[in-house]
Amino acid sequence: MDFFEVVEKRGTYRLDFKEQQISDDDIIKIVNAGLLAPSGHNFQTTSFVIVKDKELRDKISTLMPTKATKTAPVILVALSEKKMYKVNETAHFYFDTEDYAAAVENILLAITAMGYAAVWMDGMSRMDENYKEIAKILNVPSDRTVRTIIPFGVPINEVKQNSRKPFEERVVWDRF
Ligand SMILES: Cc1cc2nc3c(=O)[nH]c(=O)nc-3n(C[C@H](O)[C@H](O)[C@H](O)COP(=O)(O)O)c2cc1C
Repeated sequence: MDFFEVVEKRGTYRLDFKEQQISDDDIIKIVNAGLLAPSGHNFQTTSFVIVKDKELRDKISTLMPTKATKTAPVILVALSEKKMYKVNETAHFYFDTEDYAAAVENILLAITAMGYAAVWMDGMSRMDENYKEIAKILNVPSDRTVRTIIPFGVPINEVKQNSRKPFEERVVWDRF
């Protein structure tokens, strides 16, 4: 699939997945796309847990019960590390949010390019502090934070991207 076709075809998929398993080779290719995303100061603060184990997936879907979490053969869990980029005595930055978002978008595009579908469940991971419970389920080390879960698989239904505001409403040339 051409790159721009992938960008246009990617859409949030919240419905049921087929029972079809996904090969480790495909999973690795997808997660690797996430690892290849840029990161602030190349700190590479994003890491992943690939959840294939049914018992663990069931625990996550009990916590966040949706069609996608209940049926996805794989749930990717994105983690962040808080690492300070100290420029000098007065300036310092954290890039973990941007790093993680860039990695997740690469993953969603890879998932689409390979004919799968997914949902980025960040808001729902924060609800009721679910991310803390997921960290417990997966034994996540205390220096990492669960940012989102990404259930993915072969979609049963059609994948449709949400509509967008018109180009002119969001973009100006040169200046406002
Ligand atoms: C930061 C972020 C958080 C999101 N959290 C959730 C979520 O918790 N649950 C969900 O179903 N979708 C979630 N989404 C998916 C968005 O709702 C979706 O991307 C948006 O509606 C646009 O639709 P599209 O992905 O089909 O283009 C999230 C997306 C982003 C970027």
